[in-house]
Amino acid sequence: MNASVNRQILLVEKPVGKLGHEHFRMSDAAIPEPKDGEALVRVHYISLDAANRAWMHGATYRAAVEANSVMAGGGIGEVVASKADGLKAGDIVFGDTGWQDYAAIPAKHLTRMPKLEPMTHLLSVFGIAGLTAYFGLLDVAKPKPGETVAVSAAAGSVGSIVGQIARIKGCRVVGIAGGKDKCDWLTSELGFDAAVDYKDGAVFKALRAAAPKGIDVYFDNVGGDILEACLPLMNNRGRISCCGAISQYDGAPQATGPRGVPGLIVVKRLIMQGFIVMDFMDQRDKALSDLQSWVSSGKLKVQEDIINGLENTPKALIGLLAGENRGKRMIKL
Ligand SMILES: NC(=O)c1ccc[n+]([C@@H]2O[C@H](COP(=O)([O-])OP(=O)(O)OC[C@H]3O[C@@H](n4cnc5c(N)ncnc54)[C@H](OP(=O)(O)O)[C@@H]3O)[C@@H](O)[C@H]2O)c1
Repeated sequence: MNASVNRQILLVEKPVGKLGHEHFRMSDAAIPEPKDGEALVRVHYISLDAANRAWMHGATYRAAVEANSVMAGGGIGEVVASKADGLKAGDIVFGDTGWQDYAAIPAKHLTRMPKLEPMTHLLSVFGIAGLTAYFGLLDVAKPKPGETVAVSAAAGSVGSIVGQIARIKGCRVVGIAGGKDKCDWLTSELGFDAAVDYKDGAVFKALRAAAPKGIDVYFDNVGGDILEACLPLMNNRGRISCCGAISQYDGAPQATGPRGVPGLIVVKRLIMQGFIVMDFMDQRDKALSDLQSWVSSGKLKVQEDIINGLENTPKALIGLLAGENRGKRMIKL
């Protein structure tokens, strides 16, 4: 990294179909000066999230990312200069740094993080991924011991933690992931009871075999056909925690399922609830304390997929959407 230049990756055009390299461009800018109330952050790790692609469609729980601007994204970095009360040089912070070496950010949009090793855990298990898994499973879906929990994108950053927490809580866990290798990894390394390869076709049949007593909780990361396959297998009074809809992110909007939703919800008395992790931040300390104790006791394994170099960020996001990653994917600067 040249210490006098701020390398940036710009989104030059919003994709209509699949995201490609042509939608991004690398550029050099001056390192910004922090204004009053801002801190200048040198970015160490950039989080790659499936939602990065969803932000290109339009405003969601955050503003849309626009063409010809620095690509948005969460990052962990170190404060190198501060004109904000409460933040000083050397502090470690999380915020929407964007895909760049340096960012000047209002302190109110930064979260001061503990200094822990490895720092990458602040983006994975102790970051948005871990908290999303924790709250989306325990507070939204409320699994009980002995119940069957199914989770999609199960080998990804959120899904791999969801399944392991469900096991810790005494549930039977079925992961849904793309490919035999990922499915084998879920059962042999992460302790899932069963795994279904959705790319093998016949998801409904495979799920029915993997969950012979039906599904009590479905943690939905993907929407679409997999949600449609899970619905008829839900037990009475089952809960569906709607975390995301990856199957709808990368491409032009499509008219996909699930079909038959209202009837099934009524007859089975299902609860289907969406959530955004930020809604639970007042309970963050309790969640982090549980996650820390599970990690240190070895009950919760942390899987990280770290790629070097800002220049590789577009490729890493395109690859994540294609299912290349296992666990939390991030870029090391
Ligand atoms: N509600 C919230 O507050 C919140 C917060 C954070 C994240 N999220 C959501 O959490 C989910 C996980 O996101 P992440 O960033 O952690 O990504 P991730 O799970 O680490 O990676 C995405 C995975 O999705 C799978 N995938 C891609 N296309 C798919 C398709 N068409 N059908 C099924 N699976 C597909 C791929 O694995 P395979 O090889 O298995 O296909 C890929 O590895 C997303 O829905 C995201 O929006 C929600």
